[in-house]
Amino acid sequence: MNTLPTFNSMTPEAGLKKALTLSRPDIIEEVRSSGLKGRGGAGFPTGMKWNFAAAAKGEEKFIICNADEGEPGTFKDRLILQEHADLVFEGMTIAGKAVGAKEGILFLRGEYTYLKPQLEAVLAKRREQKLLGKGILGSDLEFDIRIFMGAGAYICGEETALIEALEGFRGEPRNRPPFPVNTGFLGRPSVVNNVETLASAACILQKGSAWWTSKGTEKSTGIKIFSISGDCQRPGVYEFPMGITIAQLLKEVGGEGAKAVQVGGASGQCIPASQFSRAIAFEDIPTGGSIIVFGQHRDMLDVLHNFMDFFVDESCGQCTPCRRGNVKLLEGIELLKEGKCSMAYLKELCSLGETMQIASKCGLGQSSPSAFLSVVQNFREEIMGRTSKTLSHV
Ligand SMILES: Cc1cc2nc3c(=O)[nH]c(=O)nc-3n(C[C@H](O)[C@H](O)[C@H](O)COP(=O)(O)O)c2cc1C
Ligand code: SF4
Repeated sequence: MNTLPTFNSMTPEAGLKKALTLSRPDIIEEVRSSGLKGRGGAGFPTGMKWNFAAAAKGEEKFIICNADEGEPGTFKDRLILQEHADLVFEGMTIAGKAVGAKEGILFLRGEYTYLKPQLEAVLAKRREQKLLGKGILGSDLEFDIRIFMGAGAYICGEETALIEALEGFRGEPRNRPPFPVNTGFLGRPSVVNNVETLASAACILQKGSAWWTSKGTEKSTGIKIFSISGDCQRPGVYEFPMGITIAQLLKEVGGEGAKAVQVGGASGQCIPASQFSRAIAFEDIPTGGSIIVFGQHRDMLDVLHNFMDFFVDESCGQCTPCRRGNVKLLEGIELLKEGKCSMAYLKELCSLGETMQIASKCGLGQSSPSAFLSVVQNFREEIMGRTSKTLSHV
């Protein structure tokens, strides 16, 4: 199966060659008018991000490719790096020209250390071919890329924690503002983009923004790469147009008859079968690309237990709503499993989850209660049936 048909169909370096003929504002305009939104999860418009960094004052700027890929159920960036590293590096080089950066850094997930030799070889070849370094393809563009290894912490995928780690500090999120586009790595303007975003930007430069907007929906343009796992016959990495419904996607992967689908990894939403006609798009259910299929036999409390265990481990502990909130939610799930959680306490846990969503400092704590809240809302009967009618531990 051709898993990534769009990336496979690209002519090597055609996007970069096109970018070398354009001015910096024209490159940014091409990306802006494509409507490309970040593929790392938050969906920030890429053209706007590049424009902010281009406009930021500073001689030295950086392009950082976020290949930390730690969200449970996500493995598409690994395949993109394995099969299309050149396209990713091409996208970084184009971003470098657009923004005025001479240095790119690939922040590679610690667990992907085995990919490093292969990626270093691609970089070395690009230098030989004058696709990196000084005078790229005979132009006056200077840009090079180095690889920095992560050390296995999920929080380092959050862009400001990633920058802290790059600077040699403990990976903890910074207060925002200031944003990395103004004050990023070493205090310099920095663009942080997902692996897939940068590869997609290279495609857009090659084929044009109208080609990209001809796919997907009006508000969610283009194609998206998905990591699909769980109770389906054909798990794997897939390319689909944005706006595909969950039902269509399940048919493609042999997951019909599923009980629920977790869209967006552990920090995403759990969608029940009654809502499978909904679209995977920024205007309906957004995702960085992780899709986990749950069959009819799955106990939703087991699912939640697994996710909350992860968040308790991965919270950096900097702010109280997340540090304590995840522990309290995990304890609540354990009480539910033991039949010892009252309805009143379940309500309190939901209210705690909502507080975490607004009071946590970064996206980890803001999104870690999402699965819990969506399971309680969408599987009311299953969860209510597990509450204690007589006992209240509070
Ligand atoms: C806890 C946490 C983990 C994240 N992990 C990743 C990651 O592994 N890869 C990624 O691209 N973005 C990740 N993000 C999102 C980044 O902070 C950032 O929004 C993204 O890299 C921007 O790139 P984009 O605009 O191309 O999506 C994470 C965010 C949070 C809060
Ligand atoms: S929300 Fe969680 S991960 Fe983010 S800063 Fe607070 S404690 Fe750390």
